[in-house]
Amino acid sequence: MNSITSEDKLRVRELRWEDMEDCVENYYSYYDELRDNEDLGLLLSAEKPSLATEVRWFAELYSAVLEQRALACVAVAGRKVVGMCEVRRRDTRPALFHTAILGIAIRRDFRGRGAGEMMLRWSLAKCAGRFETVYLTVFSTNTVAKRLYEKVGFRVCGIRPKAIKRGSRYFDEVEMAIELRSAKEQQREMNA
Ligand SMILES: CC(C)(COP(=O)(O)OP(=O)(O)OC[C@H]1O[C@@H](n2cnc3c(N)ncnc32)[C@H](O)[C@@H]1OP(=O)(O)O)[C@@H](O)C(=O)NCCC(=O)NCCS
Repeated sequence: MNSITSEDKLRVRELRWEDMEDCVENYYSYYDELRDNEDLGLLLSAEKPSLATEVRWFAELYSAVLEQRALACVAVAGRKVVGMCEVRRRDTRPALFHTAILGIAIRRDFRGRGAGEMMLRWSLAKCAGRFETVYLTVFSTNTVAKRLYEKVGFRVCGIRPKAIKRGSRYFDEVEMAIELRSAKEQQREMNA
């Protein structure tokens, strides 16, 4: 395991196969965080998934990246992965082929240092020409995330009232979308 300090400079790069161990460790850390941060804006299962489940999840994500059904990047501090952003094609049905869904999370100690913005900009740049609209959902209380999404160009397109219930607390779920230039538009600009 690589040791990290919060002083390590953060950078963003494409997801690699060898990132699995760090990604799983990060994902498990959100379960620990939820115990003392009930505002954490991630939807987690009741129990930490088994390592076998996580290995399958990672392999599926990595296959999706190789097959261009998804793209994924990581934020790295030193040599350690501390966050990930993934964008997956929503559906293979032709009418939905142009849309994708984005998810992002960074380990608690590494938030607020620009990694979120870097990963979002990296991902949206790669999405252009591949997906036309990217959607995400965010807890209405997650003001840091909402502000960041707006900063990079997402706009609110819907609200599902009380869609999330954590214990006895309800959260509205906000849906946001960003429209990117289509592949045809990009091609036209390149040929101009
Ligand atoms: C949401 C999240 C991905 C944002 O990533 P991040 O690396 O913390 O964000 P950045 O450092 O790029 O900062 C983005 C903006 O939010 C602000 N910000 C970050 N942390 C903040 C905090 N604790 N309080 C107030 N503002 C904050 C930054 O100042 C920046 O705005 P600015 O550039 O206008 O000043 C990250 O906080 C996270 O993983 N949170 C937990 C999981 C989660 O909520 N995921 C999103 C699910 S929809």
